[in-house]
Amino acid sequence: MHANATALIEMDWDAFDPARIKAVRHQLADHPLLQPDQLVALGKRFQGTSHLFTFNNNAGADANFDDVARLYPNRRSVTDTLQGINEAKAWMLLRHVQADATYQKLIDLALDPIKPRIEKHDPGMYYRAGWIFVASPHTVTPFHIDRNHGILLQIHGTKKVYVWDAEDAEVCSELARDCFHSRHELDEVKWREEFRERAHVFEVGPGQGVYMPITSPHMVETGDDPSITISLTYSTNATRRNAMEHVLHDLLRRKGIKPPTVGKHPLLDRLSYASASAMIAMHGVGSRPPACPSLARRTAYAVAD
Ligand SMILES: [Fe+2]
Repeated sequence: MHANATALIEMDWDAFDPARIKAVRHQLADHPLLQPDQLVALGKRFQGTSHLFTFNNNAGADANFDDVARLYPNRRSVTDTLQGINEAKAWMLLRHVQADATYQKLIDLALDPIKPRIEKHDPGMYYRAGWIFVASPHTVTPFHIDRNHGILLQIHGTKKVYVWDAEDAEVCSELARDCFHSRHELDEVKWREEFRERAHVFEVGPGQGVYMPITSPHMVETGDDPSITISLTYSTNATRRNAMEHVLHDLLRRKGIKPPTVGKHPLLDRLSYASASAMIAMHGVGSRPPACPSLARRTAYAVAD
């Protein structure tokens, strides 16, 4: 652990609110493990596993996020994908890099020093994970939401990051969040072009990034150069509680009951949390498709699904 090490991620900690989107700065852009040669080596170690996706991307913001990887895998080697990244509309996604001992240390190096700052407002950090995206110029990560807090850190090239407030029900409904937390479905998370004007927009280059609270909708466009980005994600007591409440609300909806908005009725939220916790403890998080494994297991690092 690196609790006393220099913080490589900086933000205005006095103004930090775990529920608010925030710009960050970082000193990881020159880290050797985030340079192309080491990413090729990691990609080779991950080849043939669920940790590595390489795919072509002609998708726009309105594409279904899950479909992009499923429908356009290019099945090329890591080396070929990276060599062609300048010309091809290609992506390489290294998922759950914490499964590799070297990269797990990198995640700790980045998160350990800021953990006390985060936990002052948002205690119980667990389920750490790292995701590395290598993408061609002018590619789009379609509009979607994620199950945990995330810190996007730009390493190489530029990106335009559009993020919307997590509670913006115009952009992403309560129903969409319920379905997503309970069944990991993004079908109700639907892009509309007019959303752009109400987004927080960050143009990030190396050394810059964005903190995104759980289920803040986002969409990302790469600039004129190939892009390397690492996203660090984690759960906390509050994200766990929020996700559990959404899981229970999804079940209520399926029984024909319209639940209230999560966060608006503290007593109901506590009852939902208690019910969902008991259910998940008894039955697990469901089989197909599952709620986030972080709800069943409070492990230090995320478990690859
Ligand atoms: Fe994301």
